[in-house]
Amino acid sequence: MRKYEDPQGKVASKLRDRLALMHVSSYITPKARKGKPSTIEGRGLVAIEPIAVGEIVAIKGGHIVDTATLQSLPERLQNSDVQIADGFHLVAMEEAEYEPVMLFLNHSCEPNVGFGGNIVLVAMRDIGTGEELTTDYALFDDYDGSMECNCGTASCRGTISGRDWQRPDLQRKYGSYFSWYLLHRQGPAKGSPAR
Ligand SMILES: C[S@@+](CC[C@H](N)C(=O)[O-])C[C@H]1O[C@@H](n2cnc3c(N)ncnc32)[C@H](O)[C@@H]1O
Ligand SMILES: [Zn+2]
Repeated sequence: MRKYEDPQGKVASKLRDRLALMHVSSYITPKARKGKPSTIEGRGLVAIEPIAVGEIVAIKGGHIVDTATLQSLPERLQNSDVQIADGFHLVAMEEAEYEPVMLFLNHSCEPNVGFGGNIVLVAMRDIGTGEELTTDYALFDDYDGSMECNCGTASCRGTISGRDWQRPDLQRKYGSYFSWYLLHRQGPAKGSPAR
């Protein structure tokens, strides 16, 4: 076998850095591009090919951290978080991980993407080329606070609360598209009228 020289370990060190980054990234379907300009806010996730109802559009990646660790991170990194269970989150912990971990999935009050489990995101309806992929943050958020919504849809709630998952109207609307941990809190016998 041929031997490669790497006396200062520079190549090995670069490889280790790349491998470390590869382990903390989210998956995005090749049918969408993330980071594109959004009409809702900042950058978004946009379909570049038609996506059928039920298809996986993204799988969230990141470091598994508890809430205290999440809150100790710089605000920009906290922005990459998705809560996955009571007290646990997936998040980027270094600036270099921010882009690979971010889904750039904006909130809409008439969303086209929901949860299947707690890290898998699926199309809730057929999505056309050029459409922005959006979810309702009520499907996975549980925190003290709120956000003014700029989704511009007819059913916009205006203010999106971190406790919106508790709303009976949204529980009826989304059925089992809530993240697993919020579905579990809604009771053991949750049906799925939205599917
Ligand atoms: C995970 S980021 C989504 C990507 C974000 N647009 C960006 O460029 O980084 C979540 C943040 O996007 C913004 N955002 C998402 N949906 C929004 C909406 N419907 N109205 C206003 N701001 C929104 C809020 O600042 C929110 O904290
Ligand atoms: Zn809205």
